[in-house]
This record gives sequence, structure tokens and C-alpha cells, in this order.
Amino acid sequence: MKPQTPPKTYRVKSFGCQMNVYDGERMAELLGERGIAPAPEGEEADLVILNTCHIREKAAEKVYSDIGRLVLAGKEAGKQPMIAVAGCVAQAEGEEIMARAPAVSIVVGPQAYHRLPEMLDKAQKGERATDTDMPAIAKFDALPARKKRGPSAFLTVQEGCDKFCTYCVVPYTRGAEISRPFKHLVDEAHKLVEAGAKEITLLGQNVNAWRGEDDKGRQVGLGGLIRVLAGIDGLERIRYTTSHPNDMDEDLIAAHGEVAKLMPYLHLPVQAGNDRILKAMNRQHTADSYLKLIEKFRAARPDIALSGDFIVGFPGETEAEFQDTLGIVDEVRYAACFSFKYSPRPGTPAASMEGQIAPEVMAERLQRLQQRIGAHQYAFNQASVGRTCTVLVERTGRHPGQWLGKSPWLQSVWFEAPAAIGDLVEVELAEAGPNSLKGLVKAG
Ligand code: SAH
Ligand code: SF4
Ligand code: F3S
Repeated sequence: MKPQTPPKTYRVKSFGCQMNVYDGERMAELLGERGIAPAPEGEEADLVILNTCHIREKAAEKVYSDIGRLVLAGKEAGKQPMIAVAGCVAQAEGEEIMARAPAVSIVVGPQAYHRLPEMLDKAQKGERATDTDMPAIAKFDALPARKKRGPSAFLTVQEGCDKFCTYCVVPYTRGAEISRPFKHLVDEAHKLVEAGAKEITLLGQNVNAWRGEDDKGRQVGLGGLIRVLAGIDGLERIRYTTSHPNDMDEDLIAAHGEVAKLMPYLHLPVQAGNDRILKAMNRQHTADSYLKLIEKFRAARPDIALSGDFIVGFPGETEAEFQDTLGIVDEVRYAACFSFKYSPRPGTPAASMEGQIAPEVMAERLQRLQQRIGAHQYAFNQASVGRTCTVLVERTGRHPGQWLGKSPWLQSVWFEAPAAIGDLVEVELAEAGPNSLKGLVKAG
């Protein structure tokens, strides 16, 4: 590789989960420290970071087509951008990327991106740089202070996963479960609020597995952290995602009834409704234990909105077993859900299980499941009509004078009234659609 001119502009493209987006923001902040600016809209950047996701096959394949596209665009423009591949594909397939894609200068894993500046130095000299170490906490210590962003901010509190669901790559790409220290999190939350955040979403692959020692030396879980963060002036809303059913504790459940700033929303994936499938997935819970947990949350916070993740077509799933998934969707009446066709991932136990399901069967099941999920989501929105709530304004709407934001239950709400991004506006939910609601701002 030839020496490359130091990049003046960058673009970070994030393809994965919210933590991947958070990582993308932190990488952008690092580049900012180095005097590299975001590329203006519509202009090619000197440095492109593809912040990849390995969770499903389609997501992972995108990286190669994106590299191809960048090289082609570079040829047309007569100037190749410097390309860095970050994220979970970098972690899982770093060597393969280096071998398959000579245009790539940097491969950096999700636990090593704090070393991006040194890697840029190397790349400028014409050497290719790879770093997929997993030093975990060291990363956060080495990152610069948080920069101003929108009113809703992410804060990674926990990383990694020890659960080893048989279909999932996360334990391999993100490593073992670690909790960031209490004090670091409180400090980062204060900085985010000083930078304008009104809402903070605490992130972790198993966010509710977070454990730490508070300022009084007591062992606390996520509920304890949330209670302390709720004391920050100017912070109005707290959310967290994603939780695992087996890491829930009584204090976090109780916090939903006691902490006003904790929003009435819980993302609690169950994946499937059938116990034989759950066992084969190594989920370590049953459909019934999951439903009992949901009941506890509803007792603590009756209006809590629930969301979940589902996989259809896990190896060996019969039609009757799939029906159990439809059954649990009806039972919980989710406000929103993500659902996916099972995707065999290299190196995971499920990929070599017998009874892989034909793609057309998966597609048909997914369609039925999504129809059912959509019906419940619409019903949840319709049942919200008449409620009065606050909306955190996140952006302007499609038409002049319109604003878009989120209700406490994470619904998209639009309204027409004088407002600004970051305002918390009280509205009455007046009309419901499948994916959004219309709010009316009360006069006076
Ligand atoms: N840590 C979270 C989320 C992990 S990834 C949790 O345990 O809930 C997000 C979602 O992707 C998962 O909840 C699951 O529904 C889906 N997923 C993970 N691996 C998958 C695979 N191999 N095929 C299809 N969907 C998958
Ligand atoms: Fe993947 Fe399971 Fe861990 Fe979630 S709990 S990240 S699905 S292994
Ligand atoms: Fe994807 Fe990695 Fe997140 S695989 S879902 S970016 S943890």
C-alpha cells in the first residue's frame, strides 16, 4: 500500500445495534480530536469507517459490497478514500477482510477503536493496520470527552455477553460481560446532560447484568445506577436496552414503579414461544418464566410498554412450535417488536444443527409473525388515544411547522405547535396510525 495523505474529512457508517451506533459516535469524537471533520452532506469523505454488524448474514455481507462501491466511486473521482472496517465483522473476520479487500487500510474491532489514532498514523505511512484485541475497560478510559449531540443520547454501561445462545455471534465478537465502573458512568451522564441530552438510554448487550459499587461502597445493580442518574438535574428521561430475562432483579423491577424519570418501556427479547426451541437456543428460560416476569413489571408499572425480539425458523422448528411464538405475541400484546429469519452464523452451535429450515418456510413464518406483531402495535397505539403525555422533540416533521418526537412509550408522535428540538412538550394523543400518532398541544 502507498503512503496516504492525512484525511481531512471522515464519514462513519454504522450498520448494527445501538451499541454499534454508540461506538460510531465515539470514533467520530476521536477523529474530531485529531482535527478531522465530518464530510459535508453529499461529498466524498477522505476517510470512510464502515462500522459493521455480524449478527445476520445479510448484515455481514454489506461490508464487501460497500468496499466495492467505495473503490469504484474513488476511481471515478480520481481519489481513493482511506477505508477502515470497524465493528463486529472486523472482530470476527479481520484477517479475511485484509486478504479479500486490498483497498482496506485499517481493521479495528469494537474493543480496540480507542487506538484508531495510532492506526491512522500507520495507514498514512502506507502500512495496513489491524487491531482486534479485547482490553474492554481500557477503551473507555482512552476516549475523549462526549460532544454535543441530539436531545437523546446513548451511554454504554455494559458490554459483552456470557449467555452463548446457540445462534448468536455476540459472545464471540464482543467478548465476556464487563460492567463499566459506576463513577465513570455518572461522570459521562453528567457530560452528556451538559452537552444538551435530555434523555439517556443505557446500553449493554445484557444491560441488566450491569453490577457496580456505588459512591457509598454498596454493591448495586442497574436499578441502583438508574436511581442515582435520576438525580441529575436536566436529565428528564432514562431508558435502557437490551435486557436478558435471567438478569432481572427485584430492584430494577421496583425502580419502574418508583423512579419517575425511568420511562415505562421495556425491551425484553424472548426469541421464541416454545420451550423445546428455547432450550435448543440455550436461552435458559421458559415461555412461562418469561411471562411471569412480564407480570411483575406490569404490577410495578401498569402502563409499561413491552417490546421484544423474535427469531423464526430456528433449526428443527415445526409449524406447531412456531404457533407457540404467535401465541406468546398474543399473550404479551407487545407495543413493538423486531423479528428475524434465523441466519446460520459461522462458528455458532446452531449453524451445524440438523433440521435447518428452508428459506421459503422461514419467509412465510416471518410474514405471519410480522402481521401479528403489527396488529398488536396498532392496537397499542389506538389504546393510547386520549392519553396525555410528554413528547421529547427530536426533529422537524415532514411539513413546515410539524415536529416529531417520542412518547414515554417510545411511540413516534408528531404535532403542530411552536417548539424546538429538545423540548418536552405536553400533548394529548389524538389519532393513531400503525407506526405513529398525532398529538394535540393543549392551549394555555
Ligand atoms: N443481547 C440482546 C440482543 C442480541 S442481537 C439479547 O440477547 O436479546 C439482537 C437480536 O438479533 C437478538 O435478540 C435476536 O433476535 C437476533 N439474532 C441474533 N442472532 C441471530 C441469528 N443468528 N439469526 C437471526 N437473528 C438473530
Ligand atoms: Fe446473543 Fe443470547 Fe447474548 Fe443476546 S443473550 S447477545 S442473543 S448470546
Ligand atoms: Fe451487530 Fe455486533 Fe451489535 S454483531 S448487533 S453490531 S453487537
